[in-house]
Parts: sequence; C-alpha cells; structure tokens
Amino acid sequence: MNAIFDSHAHYDDPAFDPDRDTLLSSMSSLGVGHIINAGASLESSRESLEIAARYPYVYAACGVHPEHAGALPADYLQQVEDMCRSSCKVRAVGEIGLDYHYDDMAPKETQREVFSKQIELANRLGLPIIVHDREAHGDTMELLRRYQPAGVVHCFSGSVEMMREVVALGMYIGLGGAVTFKNARVPVEVAKEVPLERLLLETDAPYMSPVPFRGKRCDSSLIRYTGKKIAQLKGISTSELFRITEANAARLFDIKLEEPILS
Ligand code: NI
Repeated sequence: MNAIFDSHAHYDDPAFDPDRDTLLSSMSSLGVGHIINAGASLESSRESLEIAARYPYVYAACGVHPEHAGALPADYLQQVEDMCRSSCKVRAVGEIGLDYHYDDMAPKETQREVFSKQIELANRLGLPIIVHDREAHGDTMELLRRYQPAGVVHCFSGSVEMMREVVALGMYIGLGGAVTFKNARVPVEVAKEVPLERLLLETDAPYMSPVPFRGKRCDSSLIRYTGKKIAQLKGISTSELFRITEANAARLFDIKLEEPILS
C-alpha cells in the first residue's frame, strides 16, 4: 500500500492540543507518509513552521486566510515572505483566498487585495499557492487567470466546468471528506471528471471528517475513507489512487519521495 499524502491539514489547531505529538508521531504507523500543514493566520503560519521543524514528513504552508484578512499589520506581507524564506520546509503560500460565505468576514475588496498580494509573493518566490475559495468562484477564477500561479484549489467546491478551467491553468484540485457526504452531488461529479494526474487528496483536519466519522475530529489517517470513495468513482484500486495522488503532491510541492526520511 502506498503512503497517504495529506495535502492540507491544520495540526496547529487547538483541537490537537491534548495529543498533537502522540498523533503526529504515529502517522507512519497509520499509513500516512507526508503532510502539508497549512497556516491560516500569521500566528498559525508560525506554528505551522514549528510543527514542520519537528517532523521530517510534515511540510509547511505559510499565508493569511481570508478570515484573517481584516485586521493585519501593515507589514504582514513582509512577515509572510520572511517565514517562507526562513525554512526549506515551507513548500507553499497558503492557505489564501476568498470567502464570501459569512457577512462578518473582511470586506471583499480587502480580501481580494490580500489574496492578490500573496499570489504575487508566491510567484516571486517560485512557490505554489493553496487556495481557499468559498462562495467566491467568479472572483477566485479572475485572480487565478490574471496571475497564473502554480498551486491547488483546496476543498474544491466549484462545478465540473470550473474544475476544467483550473486544470487548464495548470493547477491541481484538492478533494477531501466532502466527497463522502450523502448530499455530495457536485463534488462526486468533480471527482469522476478530474484528470487523475491533477488530483490531490486532503483532510483539512481537524475539520471535514469523511463518513463514517463526519462531525468528529479529523486526522490524516481518515483520508483512506475519502480515497476509497474516489477510487471507486474512478474505477481504480485505492492503492493506485494513493500512488498517483502522492506523486502529484510531490510534484506540486517539490518533495522527493525516494529520499529516505531521517528522524
Ligand atoms: Ni484549511
């Protein structure tokens, strides 16, 4: 069985405070080979760096999520850049993007500004981006078309048509627990249609646990349920799906799989 590559998790989340180290230390025995820990704020990006420094198989993404775009210090972009340059374990700028779901988020214009600046930064640093797009498909696509970054649209919630455009831009599609939900119609269509070589598996742990763990705390090992469902939709074995998605993530995040992991 090939190792699971979780392309999106948040192990800095307080939900992991009781057992973070025990859990992360047990990842290889749970079949998990690599994890990208995505930052969401300046603070969690810093924590993401610390976690990546402790575990050879955990890599970091640093960036400001739209939820935190409203109250940033003037030098936030420099801070993100400094974090990205501080360690070779940083493999992406993220998660960044647009979230128009809640009214109490930062104004759309601020979100677009903070997203754009961070895409420009990623392009300048030669790093891929991890995109959060919630109910903001039109504006997200406009900025992706404009800046042409490398990266992944995580927890992809758009249509099959939008997926095709993201893929045509050279980007990847991240799918997680939502594919297993009973009411998942569009994510299932996207999973069926997405080219295998552009698919990444993810958890968004501690959120988005797949069925039968929906509503409970998620961790990277639960990706096997998401993987099983997508493999069925694709008509391939789960093992083959893990092999392909692991290779995809390694390509996007520039991680050498053959390198022995030193601990
Ligand atoms: Ni996330």
